This record gives sequence, structure tokens and C-alpha cells, in this order.
Amino acid sequence: MAARAEIEAKASFERIRYAQLWEDADVLTQALGACAGGTLVSICSAGDNALAMLTLDPARVVTVDLSPAQIACLRLRIGAFSELTHPEFLELMGARPSTRRGMLLSRALAGQDAETRAFWTALEHDVDRHGAGGVGKFERYFRIFRKWLLPLVHGRRTLDEVFVPRDRAARQAFYDHRFDSFRWRLLLNVFFSRFVMGRMGRDKAFFDHVEGSPAAHVARRIHHAAVETDPAGNPYLHWILHGTHGTALPTAWRREHFDVIRSRLDRLDIRPGSLEAFVSTGERADGFNLSDIFEYMSPAVFAQVYEGLLDAAAPGARLVYWNMMVPRRVPPGLAARVIRRREIEDRLKAQDKAFFYSDFVVEEVAG
Ligand SMILES: C[S@@+](CC[C@H](N)C(=O)[O-])C[C@H]1O[C@@H](n2cnc3c(N)ncnc32)[C@H](O)[C@@H]1O
Repeated sequence: MAARAEIEAKASFERIRYAQLWEDADVLTQALGACAGGTLVSICSAGDNALAMLTLDPARVVTVDLSPAQIACLRLRIGAFSELTHPEFLELMGARPSTRRGMLLSRALAGQDAETRAFWTALEHDVDRHGAGGVGKFERYFRIFRKWLLPLVHGRRTLDEVFVPRDRAARQAFYDHRFDSFRWRLLLNVFFSRFVMGRMGRDKAFFDHVEGSPAAHVARRIHHAAVETDPAGNPYLHWILHGTHGTALPTAWRREHFDVIRSRLDRLDIRPGSLEAFVSTGERADGFNLSDIFEYMSPAVFAQVYEGLLDAAAPGARLVYWNMMVPRRVPPGLAARVIRRREIEDRLKAQDKAFFYSDFVVEEVAG
């Protein structure tokens, strides 16, 4: 198998795309199961889920990413966990308001390598304004949505009231009578029309597998986040609607995990480069966080990479990944080598707070 990833040839990785992780590590860590003492492999992205995986007490978390900018996000977090208190960490990341992010940034960077320091110092202005978790391209899209489009549909009071804790019946009533208005539906239909999505840079083909229109898909997922699960406990929805976190935080950002993660930072084994490069080393792992990277691969490449992963997986290791729009599951030719853990998938899908994904997959390597 080529150690160079197919996508490497296609996209530019110089800028931060995801300044925080938009995948729920509460479901990821449960899906990986018991991993104490083992070797885990994680796609880095912004680094939060590799950090969250340290709570499973593995011997190491091998963290890979094609993008140096994404690796720099993890290095900043390592500095922040090492040098800052938990409240300071939340301020720097943007979960809490702050007037001193420049100072926190330079403290977090003090022990990092020159490249990481230069990369983040160049972003100081944006960090100051949006928090280090708000400076990616993805967060910028959410900011445009929140600043320019959302106010046309909902007032501040309605947006605040989304996060008042309620039981399911009351959430349904709030959604039906206050949130799911004519203007809201109009906004979704325009913003998520195939036409606008294509123009905004997301390949229209991404929606080919989605049942009904993209807007209908998004509406179903928002219903899940607003009614089936409690928005009061959803940090992702809070950031999208308010640009910061409320009481709920992503796994790795919570107070109760701060000291444990800090004490295990030396178990991170950071390898800038592709997952395919890890696979080609011949090392074995006991669990994989694969983000939603398979969606970016053609079916043929996906099958090839999946086979490589199976060869690099210890018996019982779980492959955990999401699909946003494109359906990806074990390729038929390899299905006999894994067991689909459907009961785990179904239980965790119902809890997944990062609501935009259409599927969550847990496949276990047969013993
Ligand atoms: C697939 S994207 C998805 C991001 C995600 N939904 C989130 O919330 O952060 C995650 C990361 O995977 C990286 N990536 C994609 N394909 C990869 C590969 N074959 N090997 C290593 N990293 C890869 C990208 O550079 C990106 O930083």
C-alpha cells in the first residue's frame, strides 16, 4: 500500500481547518472499550480526541495527521495543559470569555518548538478575538452563520432559551413552537441547498447518498440535537449558536479530566504524516480513532487502507469512525475479518452530541 495518502495530492494543509474537534469524544472513548496499557492510534485533527483517549489509560496514543497546522493545534494544547491552570486553558481556547489570551498564548507556547511558536504567534490576533479553538476554517463558517444569518431568524432570547434544561416533551414543544419556524426552515433550505453547498466549496457529490435533500438531512440532525438529546449538555450546539461554550464542555476540556490528561501527555506519540504511513511501519494497535477520513477516499483506496488497518490491528481492536455524508463501512471483501458492534453503535449514536454525522461505526477485529 502506498504510504502516501490519496488526499495528500489533492488538498492544501497549510491552514487550520478544525481548531477544535467536532466529534464527540464521549462516544469515541466508550466505543473504544477497555484499552488500558494498549497502543491506540488517533487521527489528530485539532488534538482534543487524542487527548481524551489518554483518559483510557493506554500506554501510548500514536497521533497522525497529514496537516502540520493540525499537528500544531495539538502541540499548543500540550503547552496549555502543561503551563496553564484549567480556567486559563478554557479562556485561551475560547470556551470562556477573556481579555488576556495573548499572554496565555505566550505562556502556553513557552516550552514548545520554534516552528509551533512561530505558527501560533502569527495567529495571535485571531486567538485573541475568537480563542484558539475558534480560528479554523470550519469555525469561521459557523461564525458567518451565527453573525449574519442566525439573527435574521432567531433573537438572542430564543437562542439562550435553547440551553435551558428540559425534559423531552418540553424540548419537543420548544422546538415545534419556538425554534422550527418558517424562517428557520427557509434558512436551512437556502444555506444547505445543493446549489449553495456546491458554491461554498463542499462537493455536491457529498450529498448524493443522503436521503432526501441536504436541508432535510440537516433538519433531522438538528431535531436529534434539540429534542432527542438535551441541548443543555451539548457544547457543540452551544458553540455554533453562541461562539463559546456554556456549562457543557467537550471531554478533554472538562475539569475532571484536566489533571489526568496533563499527567499523561508524555504518552502521546506524535507522527506528522498519514495514517497509511503508520500502517506501513508494521506496528500493531489495540484501537483506532479514524475520525471521518474514509469519506475523503475513493472506494478502491478505502478498501486498500482498511485492509492495511486490519493487518495493523491486534485481535479485538476496534475501528471507530464517523460518516458525515458518504456511507463507509467495512468493504464487503473484508467483512469476515471484523464484527460489527451494532449494539454499541446504536447506544452511542443516540447519545452523540456532535450531531451533524449521519453514521457512527464500531467494527471489531475478529480474534
Ligand atoms: C478527516 S478531517 C475531519 C475533521 C473532523 N470532522 C473534526 O471534527 O475535526 C480530520 C483530519 O484528518 C486528517 N486526515 C485526512 N486524511 C488523512 C490520512 N489519510 N492520514 C492522516 N490524516 C488524515 C486531516 O488533515 C484532518 O486534520
